[in-house]
Amino acid sequence: MKKTIVDYNLSNKKVIIRCDLNVPIENGVITDDNRIVQSVETIKYAVDAGAKVIVLSHLGRVKNEEDKKDNTLLPVSKRLSELLELPVIFVPCTRGKKVQDAVNNMKSGEVVLLENTRFEDIDGKKESGNDEELGKYWASLGDIFINDAFGTAHRAHASNVGIASILPNGIGFLVKKELDTLGEAINNPNRPFVIILGGKKVSDKIAVIENAVKIADYVLIGGGMSYTFFKAFGYEVGQSIVDNDSIEFCKRIYEENKDKIILPVDIVTGTAVVPNTTTRLTDSKNIGENEMGLDIGVATVNNFKKILLNAKTVIWNGPVGVFELEKFANGTKKLCEILANLRAKVIIGGGDSAAAAIKFGYKEKFTHISTGGGASLEMLEGKELPGIKVISEK
Ligand code: 3PG
Repeated sequence: MKKTIVDYNLSNKKVIIRCDLNVPIENGVITDDNRIVQSVETIKYAVDAGAKVIVLSHLGRVKNEEDKKDNTLLPVSKRLSELLELPVIFVPCTRGKKVQDAVNNMKSGEVVLLENTRFEDIDGKKESGNDEELGKYWASLGDIFINDAFGTAHRAHASNVGIASILPNGIGFLVKKELDTLGEAINNPNRPFVIILGGKKVSDKIAVIENAVKIADYVLIGGGMSYTFFKAFGYEVGQSIVDNDSIEFCKRIYEENKDKIILPVDIVTGTAVVPNTTTRLTDSKNIGENEMGLDIGVATVNNFKKILLNAKTVIWNGPVGVFELEKFANGTKKLCEILANLRAKVIIGGGDSAAAAIKFGYKEKFTHISTGGGASLEMLEGKELPGIKVISEK
């Protein structure tokens, strides 16, 4: 078992907490603060325990100076301060005198947030490449390191793996909850165990599908990935998204797991991914030459429902249609409704499926909505996450 924040005496200690505060921001306004909300418990615990709390996070991807202005953590620091009901001292840089001064002047119970760790990527990808010197520098600011950034646990960054390799460390409450819930579902599921996979590209999910057919009783596949399977079967897929490099994989995996992999039997098509396109419901074999599949149809929803009604554990990752457009939202909406009413442990992988579940009003209806899309997918692949692997055992 991994060490956690409660295994340390935090009083008067400088505690570095790596959070994943990578939230969507449009024109300076946070459009979904869920990751900040979920990070509060660990930060508050450290504050209440009398620590001097130094919070680190990345935001977006920063390749050049231009990217900096859209990726500052300043709006996040304001929201964090509101949620904590405490001032958060925002330091607009990632190293240097301002950082040093802010940390040296901290009193017990205060919170400092440094600027986006990925600002260090402009100069040779130091953060994302886990630069040793950068990890050492950040580690020098604190006494204890807590990793509470589940969404970043599949990355080996200087701000998680780098610091953890040097300081006494543990995980925070958010990471613990994610590992316990997802880990239990993946490694010790109540059966039948159903995994639902959607999203665009098969190539991104080959390793997940390979592992899913080993661990689950059923793997329901919808969304953009279906069309690569259809092409592999020789169906007409028209203009649908197809991942040509994965056709042989689809043939093989389906052949070996015919009873387990359930694909859509009907599809809602459009002629373009625009709100006013003409739609048509067709069986999966007859997508027109000028059409593209953009949602699952009602017969598919019913097929999925029959399987899901018996399930005891469900993990869902990836929408089954272009749910952002009203005409193609029905499949994903209905799936949310079915999942919300199951008497089963239902876990929603992060990313787009979490966004869909929240958009359609089901935020409180599931056992768990993960804060990490990529990280939960890697757990589903059966991989050990580098950000967790580096944390000490009890
Ligand atoms: C995420 O949003 O998945 C995490 O914050 C990781 O971000 P990244 O994919 O840019 O590394």
